[in-house]
Amino acid sequence: MFGRVNTAVPFTRVIKFNELTAGQAHPFRVAGQDLVLCRVDDQVYALDGVCPHVGGPLGHGTLHGRMLVCPWHAWEFDCATGQHDRSAACRLTTYAVSLVDGDVLVDLPDA
Ligand code: FES
Repeated sequence: MFGRVNTAVPFTRVIKFNELTAGQAHPFRVAGQDLVLCRVDDQVYALDGVCPHVGGPLGHGTLHGRMLVCPWHAWEFDCATGQHDRSAACRLTTYAVSLVDGDVLVDLPDA
């Protein structure tokens, strides 16, 4: 169904934009990686889906504006930067997202 767009474009098609509910986090797994897509209004962000605290499933977290809140112990991360709200040393990996013809494409390094 979804997969690498082509070898010249290093983005992987993940989901249709209209399948993402605004204001919610969405878990997905691509090439063995757990990731989270966050839709904030009409902007989509892609980040690591495993919380660096003790492995909580960030794809099942909640969004407060642009902040993604882990469902286990409520650590918060900025969707755009991956930055933890209180620790400068803690940051999730973020992935570039492109919207093309209604599809959400994510630049995954090992897809
Ligand atoms: S596992 Fe995410 S805050 Fe604890």
